[in-house]
This record gives sequence, C-alpha cells and structure tokens, in this order.
Amino acid sequence: MVENTIEKLRSLRAEALQKISAAKTSDQLESVRVEYLGKKGKVSEVLAALKDLDADSRKKVGQISNEVKSVLEDGISSTRDQLQQSEMDAELKKDSLDSTAPGITYFRGKIHPIRQVLREAISILELAGLSAAYGPEVEFEDYCFDKLNFKPGHAARDMQATFFVKTDEGAKPLVLRTHTSPVQVRSLLTAAKNNFTLPIRIQAPGRVYRMDDDSTHAPMFHQIEGLAVDTSSTMGDLRAVLDFFFRKFFDQSVKIRFRPSYFPFTEPSAEVDVSCVFCAQKGCRVCKQSGWIEVAGAGMVHPEVFEACGWDPKKVQGWAFGMGVERLAMLKLGVPDLRLFFENRMSFLRGAR
Ligand code: PHE
Repeated sequence: MVENTIEKLRSLRAEALQKISAAKTSDQLESVRVEYLGKKGKVSEVLAALKDLDADSRKKVGQISNEVKSVLEDGISSTRDQLQQSEMDAELKKDSLDSTAPGITYFRGKIHPIRQVLREAISILELAGLSAAYGPEVEFEDYCFDKLNFKPGHAARDMQATFFVKTDEGAKPLVLRTHTSPVQVRSLLTAAKNNFTLPIRIQAPGRVYRMDDDSTHAPMFHQIEGLAVDTSSTMGDLRAVLDFFFRKFFDQSVKIRFRPSYFPFTEPSAEVDVSCVFCAQKGCRVCKQSGWIEVAGAGMVHPEVFEACGWDPKKVQGWAFGMGVERLAMLKLGVPDLRLFFENRMSFLRGAR
C-alpha cells in the first residue's frame, strides 16, 4: 500500500514535469498547476488518502509528497517566469514604436506677410508720432481727386487708372480709392470742423485699387499715407521721419534721397529712394545697378488742398508721403514677384516669414 502510493506519487511527478515543460502559455501552465497541485488536484487526492495509513507510513509518504510538491512548484514557477517574459516580449513587439516611420506635419496658421509688414510699418510710424486714421475704400471722387487738386479733365486723373462705382443719378460720384491720399482730405476737413485744431499727425494705412495687373502692379494693393500739419512744418521734418522709418523698417543704416517729382496735391513734390538693401549700393539686379530703390512719393501739402478743405494756406504748413506696402514687403522679405502675395499658394505662405 505504501509502496503503491509512493509509486503513484513518482509517476505523477514525472507526468506533471513533462506537462510543465510542454506548456506553451501561462494559461496552459496554470491548468497544469490546478490539475496536480490544486485543492482537488491529483497530488492532493493522493495525500487525502494518507489519513488511512499508520504513523510510520504517513511520515514516509508525507516526506516524498512534500518533495514532489516542491519540485513541481519550483518547476511551475520558473516556467511561469519564462513564459511571462516571452509573452511580454511578444506584446511589446506588436505595439513597438517605429522611430523611422515618416511623421505627420501639423502647420500652424499665421498672419499673411502683407499684414505682418503693414502692422510693423504702422507701429514704427506710431513711434514717429503718427496715429492711425482710416477712410473708406469706396470713396467720393471729390475726395480722391478734386480736393487733392486733380483738375477736371487733367491728365493727372489718368495717372491712376480708376475703377468708377455706379451710382444713382444725382448722387455724389464714387470711385474705389486709387490711393490713401483722400484720408488727408478727411483729416483736414475733420480738424477744420473741430476749430482747426493743430497739430494734425496721422498715418492712413489701407487698401487701394487701380486697373493694373502685371508682375509689379496688382488691381488691389496697400498703401500707407503720412500727413503732418502745423503752423510750421518743413520738408526737413518729413525727411527726418522717413529717415527714421526706413532705418527701423529695414533694420539697416539705409540712406534716403529725394528726387524732384510731380503730384497735384504736393508742392514741391519728391520721389523718395532708399539705398539698395540688397547690394549696399554696389549695384545689383534689384536696383538696376543704380544703388537706389524708389519707395515712396512725398511733398509739402499744396495750398490748393488746404483751401479745398477750408484751411488758410498762409497760416499752416504740412507735409505728406505715401508708400506702397507690397513694394516694401518685396524688399524686406526678398519676394521677387508681387503676385505671390495674392495667389495664396500654401507653399509661399508657409515659407514667408
Ligand atoms: N498718393 C500718391 C500715390 O499714390 C503718393 C503720395 C502721397 C505722394 C502723399 C505725395 C504725398 O502715388
């Protein structure tokens, strides 16, 4: 009887060890454990029979059964470790991160380059004491031309190819403003109404429209106007403000020069050139070897303009300038074709500043 039981235990051990090493997953291993060492397992079953034996036999069988139990437990626990390790490895392999896979690029929106340049120009002119004033893009023809001393039928009216707006008969003729200079008129009229309050120091940024379309002209573009009026106001002041502006704007010690020119609303009038920001005046394609680039129109407010807006030209003086924002942006950002600003190709907008 005792021998039988011992024999049984030995064969159970051999059988169990074999199954343990054959287990391929920790689940399979667990069922082997339950089958042999569980409460109703095969080894426990044999031990339950112990109580029928005498003390001496119980001791013998008990010793062997403990031995079998501990051998099986050791086998199970080391096999479990191995299986769990390889199961974890497999799991990790499945989820692993491929650091060589191409990533997804997310682009953030940004301010259009023209708007960025416009804002920068505005803030520099604010430092120079000019506060922003705005006028409508659909403007009275009277403000856009007549009050600015463009005579009816004068060739100067054709200088700026104008979009006319259809209006009811008898209504004041309207145009899409061809320049920001009508804001000069509006500022002069408003200040005249307010007891001729001086000084006037404004800048007028905004959109303007002309019937033009090529690599350097667009039907819609932006200008910034400057206007300063006081009892005394000189071309020297104008020069100082523009000098300050262009140095700040291009972040270089650029020079400016005035060339005589003609505008109906200024006298004297000048074209303003800035020393070439690309070649430091050595001569390049952009400045056409001249070392200078035209950036603005300017001059002293014409007496006819003062008069048309209700001011006595003998009592006040003023200067004004107007510059094209796209042109400034092309120079500042090194953009070769004006049309790039309006086509809104993503590649250009992403790359531009
Ligand atoms: N309005 C002019 C233009 O569009 C520029 C200018 C503004 C010239 C102010 C002189 C004074 O060309």
